[in-house]
Amino acid sequence: MADIPDLEKWKKAGIITRKALDHGLSLIRKGNSLLNVAEEVDKRITELGGSPSFPTQISMNDIAAHYCPDSEDQSVFDDQVVKLDVGASYDGFLGDSAETIDLSGNYSSLTNASKKALNEAIKASTPGVTLSEIGSIIQESIGSYGFSPIVNLSGHGLARNEVHADPTIPNYANSDTTRLQEGQVIAIEPFATNGSGSIFESSNPTVFMEITKRPIRSPETRKILEHIQGYHGLPFAKRWLSRQFPAFRVNMALKELTIAGIIRAFPPLVEKSHGIITQFEHTVIVGEKPIVLTAEE
Ligand code: CO
Repeated sequence: MADIPDLEKWKKAGIITRKALDHGLSLIRKGNSLLNVAEEVDKRITELGGSPSFPTQISMNDIAAHYCPDSEDQSVFDDQVVKLDVGASYDGFLGDSAETIDLSGNYSSLTNASKKALNEAIKASTPGVTLSEIGSIIQESIGSYGFSPIVNLSGHGLARNEVHADPTIPNYANSDTTRLQEGQVIAIEPFATNGSGSIFESSNPTVFMEITKRPIRSPETRKILEHIQGYHGLPFAKRWLSRQFPAFRVNMALKELTIAGIIRAFPPLVEKSHGIITQFEHTVIVGEKPIVLTAEE
């Protein structure tokens, strides 16, 4: 394996992510609230010496990703198919990992499809393999269960304080001939569905990210922007701002900053035909023997 700068910090981020994810998974059961689980996971990341790479996301049924409970969120677990997506940052080095829990008991095959696709893709994450080959493996694994991958969602590279860095890891054979390189840190995240296989952006975002450094005139919004800058360009939850600032100020600031192009909103991503979606994700270092940084102990 080539020398990987800051390997120990990548490993640490992976371990914190894993532990926080496991803690969250243990709390996903009938009657518990999404808000409680999200808060618990964020808290565990901090207790373990990290900070969230992005707000803990709990997306259910036909929602693929980017559902992050707000402070007034009343939703509770019942019989949904739940995706828990967790990331910890350790000094800017990032972990990113997700699992699906099927509380209904009706979607074990769909759950196995994305899990199998992830495992097969990890095995193939060796230097020189093309991105399209990884996508093809994911597509075929999911297809062998009779389901479709979500084609407009992908895995991604990870860099310091950058959750979505190059390369884009497709979930289907997209004919990208870019080759994986030894030592690259990537997040592989196959999504499987019994629906049409693509998602659209819905409304009411609760996850945002600073995308440009630019001042803003209004003093109230400026105060909130200064706070946002403390997240180092990583995604943040509206809920986190509501702890520090009155709700109406937060709403105003988010609107103003979005319009000014300073932050970007990430609304929940919903399956086009409202199919059920499952997802598994690991953070991996590409190598002759790929290293899974978020592996179970
Ligand atoms: Co990811």
